[in-house]
Amino acid sequence: MIYPIILAGGMGTRLWPLSREEYPKQCLPLNDEHWSLLQQTLLRTQGLQDCAPITVICHEQHRFLVAEQCLQTGVKHFPILLEPEARNTAAAIASAVAFLLAQDSVKADKDAVFCCLPADHAIEQSDAFITSLNQAVQLAREYSQSLLTLGIEPTSAHTGYGYIQAGEPVSTEEYPKAGFKVQHFKEKPDAQTAQSYLEQGNYYWNAGIFMGTACAWQSAFTVYQPELWQHAKNTLQQAQADLDFLRLSSEQYSLLPCMPFDVAIMEQLSNAFMVSLDAGWSDLGEWQALWQQSKKDEWGNHIHGDGLLLNSSNNYVRSERLVAGVGLENLIVVDTDDALLVADRSQSQHIKKLVDKLSEQG
Ligand code: GDD
Ligand code: MG
Repeated sequence: MIYPIILAGGMGTRLWPLSREEYPKQCLPLNDEHWSLLQQTLLRTQGLQDCAPITVICHEQHRFLVAEQCLQTGVKHFPILLEPEARNTAAAIASAVAFLLAQDSVKADKDAVFCCLPADHAIEQSDAFITSLNQAVQLAREYSQSLLTLGIEPTSAHTGYGYIQAGEPVSTEEYPKAGFKVQHFKEKPDAQTAQSYLEQGNYYWNAGIFMGTACAWQSAFTVYQPELWQHAKNTLQQAQADLDFLRLSSEQYSLLPCMPFDVAIMEQLSNAFMVSLDAGWSDLGEWQALWQQSKKDEWGNHIHGDGLLLNSSNNYVRSERLVAGVGLENLIVVDTDDALLVADRSQSQHIKKLVDKLSEQG
Protein backbone atom coordinates (compact mmCIF):
# COMPACT_ATOMS: atom_id res chain seq x y z
CA MET A 1 0.00 0.00 0.00
CA ILE A 2 0.94 3.66 -0.20
CA TYR A 3 1.29 5.43 3.15
CA PRO A 4 1.02 9.21 2.75
CA ILE A 5 2.68 11.42 5.37
CA ILE A 6 1.40 14.99 5.44
CA LEU A 7 3.60 17.72 6.91
CA ALA A 8 1.13 20.11 8.48
CA GLY A 9 3.53 22.19 10.59
CA GLY A 10 5.25 25.50 9.93
CA MET A 11 3.76 28.93 10.55
CA GLY A 12 3.56 30.45 7.03
CA THR A 13 4.75 33.88 8.18
CA ARG A 14 5.22 35.15 4.61
CA LEU A 15 1.41 35.08 4.28
CA TRP A 16 0.87 37.46 7.19
CA PRO A 17 -1.57 38.98 8.19
CA LEU A 18 -3.89 36.15 7.12
CA SER A 19 -1.63 33.30 8.24
CA ARG A 20 -1.07 33.60 12.00
CA GLU A 21 0.67 31.52 14.64
CA GLU A 22 -2.67 30.26 15.92
CA TYR A 23 -4.15 29.77 12.43
CA PRO A 24 -1.32 28.92 9.98
CA LYS A 25 -1.43 28.90 6.17
CA GLN A 26 -1.97 25.17 5.72
CA CYS A 27 -5.29 25.46 7.60
CA LEU A 28 -6.56 28.38 5.50
CA PRO A 29 -8.78 28.09 2.40
CA LEU A 30 -6.29 30.26 0.49
CA ASN A 31 -7.13 29.28 -3.08
CA ASP A 32 -10.52 27.63 -2.59
CA GLU A 33 -13.82 28.79 -1.12
CA HIS A 34 -14.26 25.67 0.94
CA TRP A 35 -11.20 23.49 1.58
CA SER A 36 -7.99 24.55 3.29
CA LEU A 37 -4.61 23.62 1.74
CA LEU A 38 -4.30 20.77 4.25
CA GLN A 39 -7.75 19.46 3.35
CA GLN A 40 -6.98 19.67 -0.37
CA THR A 41 -3.82 17.64 0.29
CA LEU A 42 -5.76 15.01 2.26
CA LEU A 43 -8.42 14.71 -0.43
CA ARG A 44 -5.87 14.52 -3.24
CA THR A 45 -4.32 11.36 -1.74
CA GLN A 46 -7.65 9.57 -2.16
CA GLY A 47 -6.99 9.34 -5.90
CA LEU A 48 -4.13 6.91 -5.19
CA GLN A 49 -4.78 3.23 -5.67
CA ASP A 50 -4.24 1.33 -2.47
CA CYS A 51 -3.99 4.34 -0.20
CA ALA A 52 -3.44 3.47 3.49
CA PRO A 53 -4.65 5.71 6.35
CA ILE A 54 -2.81 9.04 6.36
CA THR A 55 -0.11 10.05 8.84
CA VAL A 56 -0.48 13.75 9.68
CA ILE A 57 2.19 15.49 11.75
CA CYS A 58 1.71 19.00 13.17
CA HIS A 59 2.58 21.27 16.08
CA GLU A 60 0.68 20.38 19.24
CA GLN A 61 -0.70 23.95 19.35
CA HIS A 62 -2.73 23.24 16.19
CA ARG A 63 -4.03 19.81 17.21
CA PHE A 64 -7.75 20.60 17.44
CA LEU A 65 -7.77 22.70 14.29
CA VAL A 66 -5.96 19.96 12.32
CA ALA A 67 -8.13 17.18 13.80
CA GLU A 68 -11.31 19.09 12.96
CA GLN A 69 -10.14 19.71 9.40
CA CYS A 70 -9.23 16.03 8.93
CA LEU A 71 -12.65 14.99 10.24
CA GLN A 72 -14.46 17.32 7.81
CA THR A 73 -12.81 15.57 4.84
CA GLY A 74 -13.81 12.10 6.04
CA VAL A 75 -10.34 10.80 5.08
CA LYS A 76 -9.06 7.91 7.23
CA HIS A 77 -5.95 8.68 9.22
CA PHE A 78 -3.67 7.30 11.93
CA PRO A 79 -3.51 9.12 15.28
CA ILE A 80 -2.22 12.63 14.53
CA LEU A 81 1.44 13.00 15.55
CA LEU A 82 2.05 16.07 17.72
CA GLU A 83 5.36 17.88 17.80
CA PRO A 84 6.07 19.62 21.10
CA GLU A 85 8.05 22.27 19.18
CA ALA A 86 8.79 23.06 15.53
CA ARG A 87 12.17 21.58 14.58
CA ASN A 88 11.86 21.73 10.80
CA THR A 89 11.12 19.03 8.27
CA ALA A 90 13.94 16.49 8.85
CA ALA A 91 12.75 15.99 12.45
CA ALA A 92 9.08 15.83 11.43
CA ILE A 93 9.66 13.39 8.56
CA ALA A 94 11.98 11.14 10.61
CA SER A 95 9.37 10.95 13.40
CA ALA A 96 6.58 10.09 10.96
CA VAL A 97 8.73 7.44 9.25
CA ALA A 98 9.67 5.93 12.63
CA PHE A 99 5.95 5.89 13.52
CA LEU A 100 5.01 4.04 10.33
CA LEU A 101 7.84 1.50 10.66
CA ALA A 102 6.48 0.60 14.10
CA GLN A 103 2.95 -0.19 12.80
CA ASP A 104 2.07 -3.89 12.49
CA SER A 105 0.17 -3.24 9.24
CA VAL A 106 3.32 -1.72 7.72
CA LYS A 107 5.60 -4.48 9.02
CA ALA A 108 3.34 -7.02 7.31
CA ASP A 109 3.23 -5.09 4.03
CA LYS A 110 6.13 -6.06 1.73
CA ASP A 111 5.04 -3.46 -0.84
CA ALA A 112 4.81 -0.52 1.55
CA VAL A 113 5.81 2.81 0.00
CA PHE A 114 5.81 5.99 2.13
CA CYS A 115 5.03 9.24 0.36
CA CYS A 116 5.75 12.50 2.14
CA LEU A 117 3.64 15.48 1.05
CA PRO A 118 3.79 19.14 2.09
CA ALA A 119 0.49 20.80 2.99
CA ASP A 120 1.13 24.13 1.30
CA HIS A 121 0.69 23.25 -2.35
CA ALA A 122 -1.90 24.00 -4.98
CA ILE A 123 -2.25 21.42 -7.76
CA GLU A 124 -4.51 22.38 -10.65
CA GLN A 125 -4.72 18.98 -12.36
CA SER A 126 -5.36 16.21 -9.84
CA ASP A 127 -5.36 13.47 -12.50
CA ALA A 128 -1.92 14.39 -13.83
CA PHE A 129 -0.70 14.60 -10.23
CA ILE A 130 -1.94 11.08 -9.44
CA THR A 131 -0.38 9.72 -12.66
CA SER A 132 3.03 11.11 -11.65
CA LEU A 133 2.66 9.74 -8.12
CA ASN A 134 1.75 6.28 -9.44
CA GLN A 135 4.74 6.42 -11.75
CA ALA A 136 6.95 7.35 -8.79
CA VAL A 137 5.47 4.50 -6.71
CA GLN A 138 6.41 1.99 -9.43
CA LEU A 139 9.91 3.38 -9.65
CA ALA A 140 10.23 3.34 -5.86
CA ARG A 141 9.32 -0.35 -5.82
CA GLU A 142 11.68 -1.15 -8.68
CA TYR A 143 14.61 0.74 -7.11
CA SER A 144 13.68 -0.31 -3.61
CA GLN A 145 16.87 1.01 -1.97
CA SER A 146 16.42 4.56 -3.29
CA LEU A 147 14.40 7.64 -2.37
CA LEU A 148 12.59 9.56 -5.06
CA THR A 149 11.54 13.16 -5.42
CA LEU A 150 9.18 14.92 -7.82
CA GLY A 151 10.57 17.67 -10.06
CA ILE A 152 8.93 20.67 -11.73
CA GLU A 153 10.20 22.25 -14.91
CA PRO A 154 11.44 25.66 -13.71
CA THR A 155 10.11 28.92 -15.12
CA SER A 156 12.43 31.30 -13.25
CA ALA A 157 15.57 31.34 -11.12
CA HIS A 158 13.46 31.20 -7.93
CA THR A 159 15.67 31.02 -4.82
CA GLY A 160 12.97 29.59 -2.55
CA TYR A 161 13.16 26.08 -4.01
CA GLY A 162 15.52 23.14 -4.11
CA TYR A 163 17.08 22.33 -7.51
CA ILE A 164 17.55 18.85 -8.99
CA GLN A 165 19.93 18.10 -11.83
CA ALA A 166 18.47 15.30 -13.93
CA GLY A 167 20.92 12.59 -14.97
CA GLU A 168 20.37 9.37 -16.93
CA PRO A 169 16.73 8.49 -17.76
CA VAL A 170 15.24 5.36 -16.18
CA SER A 171 12.18 3.28 -17.11
CA THR A 172 9.72 0.84 -15.56
CA GLU A 173 7.72 -1.87 -17.33
CA GLU A 174 4.65 0.35 -17.56
CA TYR A 175 6.37 3.71 -18.05
CA PRO A 176 9.24 3.79 -20.60
CA LYS A 177 10.28 7.30 -19.49
CA ALA A 178 9.45 7.03 -15.83
CA GLY A 179 12.13 9.33 -14.45
CA PHE A 180 15.78 10.27 -14.09
CA LYS A 181 18.67 9.60 -11.80
CA VAL A 182 19.36 12.60 -9.59
CA GLN A 183 22.80 13.89 -10.56
CA HIS A 184 22.91 16.71 -8.05
CA PHE A 185 20.51 18.20 -5.48
CA LYS A 186 20.94 21.71 -4.12
CA GLU A 187 18.55 23.21 -1.60
CA LYS A 188 17.71 26.91 -2.13
CA PRO A 189 20.76 28.15 -4.07
CA ASP A 190 21.65 31.85 -4.25
CA ALA A 191 20.29 33.89 -7.18
CA GLN A 192 23.42 33.57 -9.32
CA THR A 193 23.61 29.79 -8.90
CA ALA A 194 19.88 29.42 -9.57
CA GLN A 195 20.30 31.44 -12.78
CA SER A 196 23.18 29.21 -13.92
CA TYR A 197 21.07 26.09 -13.26
CA LEU A 198 18.26 27.57 -15.33
CA GLU A 199 20.65 28.27 -18.20
CA GLN A 200 22.07 24.71 -18.09
CA GLY A 201 18.55 23.46 -18.83
CA ASN A 202 18.65 20.03 -17.16
CA TYR A 203 17.63 21.29 -13.70
CA TYR A 204 14.19 20.97 -12.11
CA TRP A 205 12.63 22.60 -9.05
CA ASN A 206 12.16 20.20 -6.19
CA ALA A 207 8.42 19.83 -5.52
CA GLY A 208 9.07 18.77 -1.92
CA ILE A 209 7.27 15.43 -2.41
CA PHE A 210 9.41 12.46 -1.38
CA MET A 211 8.78 8.77 -1.87
CA GLY A 212 10.43 5.43 -1.09
CA THR A 213 9.98 1.92 0.25
CA ALA A 214 10.05 1.42 4.02
CA CYS A 215 13.57 0.05 3.57
CA ALA A 216 14.79 3.04 1.51
CA TRP A 217 13.58 5.54 4.16
CA GLN A 218 15.10 3.59 6.99
CA SER A 219 18.48 3.21 5.30
CA ALA A 220 18.64 6.90 4.21
CA PHE A 221 18.18 8.05 7.83
CA THR A 222 20.48 5.35 9.25
CA VAL A 223 23.32 6.13 6.85
CA TYR A 224 23.12 9.92 6.55
CA GLN A 225 21.59 11.09 9.86
CA PRO A 226 22.19 8.33 12.43
CA GLU A 227 21.89 10.62 15.47
CA LEU A 228 18.75 12.36 14.25
CA TRP A 229 17.26 8.96 13.45
CA GLN A 230 18.03 7.61 16.92
CA HIS A 231 16.36 10.63 18.57
CA ALA A 232 13.35 10.28 16.25
CA LYS A 233 12.95 6.64 17.29
CA ASN A 234 13.33 7.62 20.96
CA THR A 235 10.76 10.41 20.69
CA LEU A 236 8.34 7.85 19.36
CA GLN A 237 9.11 5.15 21.90
CA GLN A 238 8.40 7.63 24.68
CA ALA A 239 5.32 9.12 22.98
CA GLN A 240 2.01 9.35 24.86
CA ALA A 241 -1.37 8.53 23.36
CA ASP A 242 -3.93 11.29 24.04
CA LEU A 243 -7.42 11.00 22.50
CA ASP A 244 -6.91 10.78 18.75
CA PHE A 245 -3.34 12.12 19.04
CA LEU A 246 0.11 10.78 19.72
CA ARG A 247 2.24 13.27 21.66
CA LEU A 248 5.93 12.90 20.76
CA SER A 249 8.24 13.05 23.78
CA SER A 250 9.29 16.69 24.29
CA GLU A 251 12.49 15.73 26.06
CA GLN A 252 13.62 13.64 23.09
CA TYR A 253 12.17 15.93 20.43
CA SER A 254 14.25 18.87 21.73
CA LEU A 255 17.39 16.81 20.96
CA LEU A 256 16.52 16.50 17.26
CA PRO A 257 18.66 18.75 15.05
CA CYS A 258 16.67 21.55 13.47
CA MET A 259 17.24 21.22 9.70
CA PRO A 260 15.30 20.84 6.46
CA PHE A 261 14.98 17.28 5.15
CA ASP A 262 16.36 18.53 1.83
CA VAL A 263 19.71 19.40 3.46
CA ALA A 264 19.76 16.54 5.98
CA ILE A 265 19.06 13.81 3.43
CA MET A 266 18.40 14.86 -0.18
CA GLU A 267 21.68 16.75 -0.64
CA GLN A 268 23.59 13.74 0.71
CA LEU A 269 22.06 10.93 -1.35
CA SER A 270 24.00 9.41 -4.24
CA ASN A 271 21.25 7.03 -5.42
CA ALA A 272 18.09 9.18 -5.63
CA PHE A 273 15.65 9.38 -8.56
CA MET A 274 13.30 12.05 -9.85
CA VAL A 275 9.94 11.86 -11.60
CA SER A 276 8.79 14.99 -13.37
CA LEU A 277 5.48 16.53 -12.40
CA ASP A 278 3.46 18.69 -14.78
CA ALA A 279 0.14 19.27 -13.04
CA GLY A 280 -0.16 23.03 -12.48
CA TRP A 281 1.88 22.89 -9.26
CA SER A 282 2.50 25.89 -7.02
CA ASP A 283 3.87 26.29 -3.52
CA LEU A 284 1.55 28.87 -1.99
CA GLY A 285 4.22 30.12 0.39
CA GLU A 286 3.86 33.85 -0.28
CA TRP A 287 1.39 36.41 -1.66
CA GLN A 288 3.20 36.64 -5.00
CA ALA A 289 2.52 32.90 -5.57
CA LEU A 290 -1.13 33.40 -4.68
CA TRP A 291 -1.45 36.25 -7.16
CA GLN A 292 0.19 34.10 -9.86
CA GLN A 293 -2.11 31.19 -9.17
CA SER A 294 -5.39 33.09 -8.83
CA LYS A 295 -7.96 34.10 -11.46
CA LYS A 296 -7.44 37.69 -12.59
CA ASP A 297 -9.43 40.27 -14.53
CA GLU A 298 -8.23 41.59 -17.90
CA TRP A 299 -5.87 44.05 -16.11
CA GLY A 300 -4.26 41.34 -14.01
CA ASN A 301 -6.05 42.30 -10.78
CA HIS A 302 -7.32 39.66 -8.36
CA ILE A 303 -9.92 40.80 -5.84
CA HIS A 304 -10.98 38.41 -3.10
CA GLY A 305 -13.88 39.87 -1.10
CA ASP A 306 -14.90 43.46 -1.61
CA GLY A 307 -12.89 45.81 -3.81
CA LEU A 308 -13.03 48.35 -6.59
CA LEU A 309 -9.94 49.37 -8.55
CA LEU A 310 -9.69 52.04 -11.26
CA ASN A 311 -6.76 52.50 -13.66
CA SER A 312 -4.99 49.76 -11.75
CA SER A 313 -3.14 46.65 -12.84
CA ASN A 314 -1.53 43.46 -11.53
CA ASN A 315 -2.69 43.81 -7.91
CA TYR A 316 -3.78 41.24 -5.33
CA VAL A 317 -6.51 42.52 -3.00
CA ARG A 318 -8.06 40.48 -0.20
CA SER A 319 -10.53 42.13 2.15
CA GLU A 320 -13.97 41.72 3.70
CA ARG A 321 -14.21 45.50 3.99
CA LEU A 322 -14.52 47.58 0.81
CA VAL A 323 -11.09 48.47 -0.60
CA ALA A 324 -11.12 51.19 -3.23
CA GLY A 325 -8.01 52.10 -5.21
CA VAL A 326 -6.98 54.34 -8.09
CA GLY A 327 -3.81 53.99 -10.13
CA LEU A 328 -2.43 51.04 -8.14
CA GLU A 329 0.16 48.78 -9.72
CA ASN A 330 1.80 45.56 -8.59
CA LEU A 331 0.53 45.82 -5.02
CA ILE A 332 -0.61 43.34 -2.43
CA VAL A 333 -3.34 44.66 -0.14
CA VAL A 334 -4.58 42.28 2.55
CA ASP A 335 -6.97 43.57 5.18
CA THR A 336 -7.92 41.61 8.31
CA ASP A 337 -9.68 42.57 11.56
CA ASP A 338 -6.54 43.76 13.28
CA ALA A 339 -3.96 44.42 10.57
CA LEU A 340 -3.63 45.83 7.07
CA LEU A 341 -0.76 44.85 4.78
CA VAL A 342 0.25 46.96 1.80
CA ALA A 343 3.28 45.64 -0.07
CA ASP A 344 5.03 45.77 -3.39
CA ARG A 345 4.23 42.44 -5.03
CA SER A 346 7.84 41.80 -6.06
CA GLN A 347 8.92 42.02 -2.41
CA SER A 348 6.50 39.57 -0.87
CA GLN A 349 9.31 37.26 0.28
CA HIS A 350 10.42 39.99 2.72
CA ILE A 351 7.17 39.88 4.68
CA LYS A 352 8.76 37.34 7.03
CA LYS A 353 11.30 40.03 8.06
CA LEU A 354 8.43 42.45 8.67
CA VAL A 355 6.68 39.92 10.92
CA ASP A 356 9.94 39.26 12.82
CA LYS A 357 10.28 43.01 13.43
CA LEU A 358 6.66 43.25 14.57
CA SER A 359 7.20 40.39 17.06
CA GLU A 360 10.35 42.12 18.41
CA GLN A 361 8.26 45.23 19.06
CA GLY A 362 5.73 43.01 20.89
N1 GDD B 1 5.16 18.98 10.85
C1 GDD B 1 5.96 19.96 10.43
N2 GDD B 1 6.91 20.44 11.28
N3 GDD B 1 5.80 20.46 9.20
C2 GDD B 1 6.62 21.46 8.81
C3 GDD B 1 7.64 22.00 9.64
C4 GDD B 1 7.78 21.45 10.95
O1 GDD B 1 8.61 21.86 11.76
N4 GDD B 1 8.26 22.99 8.94
C5 GDD B 1 7.66 23.05 7.74
N5 GDD B 1 6.66 22.14 7.65
C6 GDD B 1 5.76 21.84 6.52
C7 GDD B 1 5.18 23.08 5.84
O2 GDD B 1 3.87 23.34 6.34
C8 GDD B 1 5.09 22.61 4.40
O3 GDD B 1 3.88 21.89 4.20
C9 GDD B 1 6.26 21.64 4.24
O4 GDD B 1 6.58 21.21 5.56
C10 GDD B 1 7.51 22.26 3.59
O5 GDD B 1 7.95 23.33 4.39
P1 GDD B 1 8.17 24.78 3.81
O6 GDD B 1 8.65 25.64 4.93
O7 GDD B 1 6.97 25.24 3.05
O8 GDD B 1 9.39 24.50 2.84
P2 GDD B 1 9.78 25.34 1.55
O9 GDD B 1 8.61 25.55 0.67
O10 GDD B 1 10.51 26.56 2.00
O11 GDD B 1 10.83 24.35 0.84
C11 GDD B 1 10.50 23.00 0.55
O12 GDD B 1 9.51 22.91 -0.46
C12 GDD B 1 9.88 23.47 -1.75
C13 GDD B 1 8.74 23.24 -2.71
O13 GDD B 1 7.55 23.68 -2.20
C14 GDD B 1 11.78 22.28 0.09
O14 GDD B 1 11.50 20.90 -0.01
C15 GDD B 1 12.27 22.83 -1.25
O15 GDD B 1 13.37 22.06 -1.73
C16 GDD B 1 11.15 22.73 -2.28
O16 GDD B 1 11.56 23.28 -3.53
MG1 MG C 1 6.58 25.50 1.02
